[in-house]
Amino acid sequence: MNNINGKLPENDPLTNPKQRKLIDQIIADNKKIAGSTMIVLNELQSQIGYVSEPMQVYVAQMLQIPVSAVHGVVSFYSFFTTTPRGEHTVKFCMGTACYVGGTPQLIDKTKQVLGIEPGETTPDGKVTFELCRCVGVCSQAPVIVVDEEIFGQVTPNKLPKILSAITEK
Ligand code: FES
Repeated sequence: MNNINGKLPENDPLTNPKQRKLIDQIIADNKKIAGSTMIVLNELQSQIGYVSEPMQVYVAQMLQIPVSAVHGVVSFYSFFTTTPRGEHTVKFCMGTACYVGGTPQLIDKTKQVLGIEPGETTPDGKVTFELCRCVGVCSQAPVIVVDEEIFGQVTPNKLPKILSAITEK
């Protein structure tokens, strides 16, 4: 029961004895309580930093629930990531006001400047590029969130300056 089927990628947390111990501990501590799936995944995201695909399969096996149930939670909440996040995160609001106000153009510009797609991290591990739901400041659309800081009325021209401030941090 402690083995997941198939080969694990070399750098997966499940192959690292220290991280594996932590994962097993988190599952053991929470498997009997109500809402264990969400609690276990939350703890894994906080303590390991992400929930890889093999970790999702492992959690499903250990909690005796379908893998699709775990995938469903991980893909629904933007808090979860399946790869490690970079030092900084830049999120683009996909709520209606922001989307209509220019988020797609900002996303295109960011792809050019950072050379990565949404959901990816720059190769130097500095910046993770993400999309998010409405962050509640629609009057300032389009909005981006850099770490915890909100930038409103962002234009493609202003964006390179904001992004270079992050990469130089
Ligand atoms: S739609 Fe972007 S903040 Fe609400």
